[in-house]
Amino acid sequence: MEGKRPNVAATTPDLSVQVGPLTLKAPVMPASGCFNVGQEVAHLFDLSCMGAIINKTVMPGPRPGNPPYRVLERTAGLINSIGIPSKGPAEFLEHQLPFMRSLGTRVIVSIGGLSEADYAGLAALMDAQEGIDALELDLSCPNHAERRPFALSADATRSLVRAVRRATRLPLIAKLAPNVSDIVAIAAAAMEAGADALCVANTYPAMGIDIEERRPVLGLQTGGLSGPAIKPMTLRLVWEIVSELDAPVIACGGVTTWRDAVEYLLAGARAVQVGTANFTNPRAIPDIIDGLRAYLVRHGFARVTDIIGAAQPPERRARIARPSA
Ligand SMILES: Cc1cc2nc3c(=O)[nH]c(=O)nc-3n(C[C@H](O)[C@H](O)[C@H](O)COP(=O)(O)O)c2cc1C
Repeated sequence: MEGKRPNVAATTPDLSVQVGPLTLKAPVMPASGCFNVGQEVAHLFDLSCMGAIINKTVMPGPRPGNPPYRVLERTAGLINSIGIPSKGPAEFLEHQLPFMRSLGTRVIVSIGGLSEADYAGLAALMDAQEGIDALELDLSCPNHAERRPFALSADATRSLVRAVRRATRLPLIAKLAPNVSDIVAIAAAAMEAGADALCVANTYPAMGIDIEERRPVLGLQTGGLSGPAIKPMTLRLVWEIVSELDAPVIACGGVTTWRDAVEYLLAGARAVQVGTANFTNPRAIPDIIDGLRAYLVRHGFARVTDIIGAAQPPERRARIARPSA
């Protein structure tokens, strides 16, 4: 019947999405640093249901991270200043990458560094490995004692992504910082320099004070806020980027339930990452996938792509519907 949606209640909706050159079987994956690579939860659910697996950001060499305290719980969020401790690339290649490859899902390797040469060197190293589908560039960790995040500046972002682009043919996902005055300009700089997709975004600079001791709680004094508190703000960033640019966006910020995932998809994100929610619900990712599937069935959508950007104005939706957009 004209205008009536097909009855898909008896079928399973297609959850696959295209994120730039990457086809994901489902639009839900962990956020870097909040899931390790999944070994600890492998007994709780089938990790192959995820759209991708992502490691905690690997740095060019071993480093201890920041002094304690490094994590602080606050209303509706977590403040961390872990500072990317890393055992370096050799350990990653030997112990984590093989496990990631064994999961039967896309393998996204998150890399970090303190200089363009650090990122380019790691990108070249990962380019020489089998079974990596994409690199995520952590340009936005607010907790490096040594330097400001690259993603606070369009010029620094452009220059870094360009340097990495020259070092690898792997698809690149640029992970942006949320605390900027013009997120669209920085997103555009990353795409112009050769990024294939954007991860929007990292944690928001924040802090807590111990009122009995009368001093900052975190060892580095400040950290990054994540969890439910940040979702409405990151949703706005995703909306702004999708409204202005034809850039594939993976949303990351406060996704805790399937409702959060649906909101981001309606804003135009092509997939979501789940970070802090894993700490309170280790089954958050499969729960979100189940809830998303049930939402699609309930509303009569045969494909998750039918809802991507559906909250945007009609003229914008037409562009978002193109898989390359
Ligand atoms: C404890 C912790 C460690 C993190 N480590 C990393 C990391 O190594 N690399 C990275 O790109 N982001 C890291 N993040 C940021 C998350 O990937 C994510 O961008 C952020 O937490 C927002 O998502 P959420 O609200 O779902 O947690 C970390 C976040 C937390 C809470």
